[in-house]
Amino acid sequence: MFNRIGVIGAGAMGRGIAQLFASSGQQVLMYDTRAEAIADALEFNRNLLQRSVAKGKLSQDDYDATVARMQPASSLEDLKDCDLIIEAIVELLEVKQNLFRDLEAIVREDCLLATNTSSLSVTRIAAGCQRPERVAGFHFFNPVPLMKIVEVVRGSRTDERYIQGLVELAEKAGHFPAITPDTPGFLVNHAGRAFGTEALRMLSEGVATPQQIDRILRDGPGFRMGPFELFDLTGLDVSHAVMESVYEQFYHDPRYTPSFIAAQRVAAGLLGRKTGQGFYRYEDGQKIEEP
Ligand code: NAI
Repeated sequence: MFNRIGVIGAGAMGRGIAQLFASSGQQVLMYDTRAEAIADALEFNRNLLQRSVAKGKLSQDDYDATVARMQPASSLEDLKDCDLIIEAIVELLEVKQNLFRDLEAIVREDCLLATNTSSLSVTRIAAGCQRPERVAGFHFFNPVPLMKIVEVVRGSRTDERYIQGLVELAEKAGHFPAITPDTPGFLVNHAGRAFGTEALRMLSEGVATPQQIDRILRDGPGFRMGPFELFDLTGLDVSHAVMESVYEQFYHDPRYTPSFIAAQRVAAGLLGRKTGQGFYRYEDGQKIEEP
């Protein structure tokens, strides 16, 4: 159903989504308002795939074919023949609505517009479209090729055949598709609120340091990462936007109250790995302060 995929936004998520589908045989066109972001993403993906070749996990022929399937787009118009477009741009409702509105004037009538939003309502994004039935959520996790689950979010008006199409596409790429309703935070970012917001509350109350909390949650209950390590990986700008969005959508239920610490750190640019400093410091993407 989806052979030609357009990926919009070549940041942490867009590049991973592009790599996933190029590896599973789809043609992928990448677009970003910053041309340098596309070039960075393509280089990042080539390096990652090259490492698989070096480890003997990918043949040179498969490498060449996968790389050839990921191409840059110089404008939105280049995406006109896509069967599916997945947006992974900034987490702002109006910006996503505007993008989909622009795309509707370009793409075919049956092209599915999918959003990788972490926390915005898919139904509200779709409400800005002429054909809301062709809008769905397709929510991946970072890093996309390794985190083998994806939420397939059914907006209030999403046509069922698109949901089934996304399920098949995810399975073909080796991901487990979890169909979720369009409720605040879907499944993962709803259940995950306690993990993140409570850890920030503990920090603001001086109960423990990020290092202590991360260590305990890794070594005790066995989470792969502690909440602060996860904030740094995701980017606090993204995580804080998710916390605010879930809080708003639950009509300020105090259970989901975001943290002033997170707000201040976002204002200070302490976003995590992508800025070199978050709750930990990073050099060349590697943590340099051990807990
Ligand atoms: P990012 O900041 O790494 O990348 C976003 C990219 O979108 C940038 O390269 C930017 O230039 C581009 N962009 C912004 N506005 C644009 C527009 N109007 N048209 C085209 N390109 C535009 O962001 P990241 O982390 O990749 O997140 C993207 C989306 O994925 C957000 O909706 C976020 O909530 C969601 N998400 C993020 C996760 C994470 O762990 N970082 C996990 C799951 C979802």
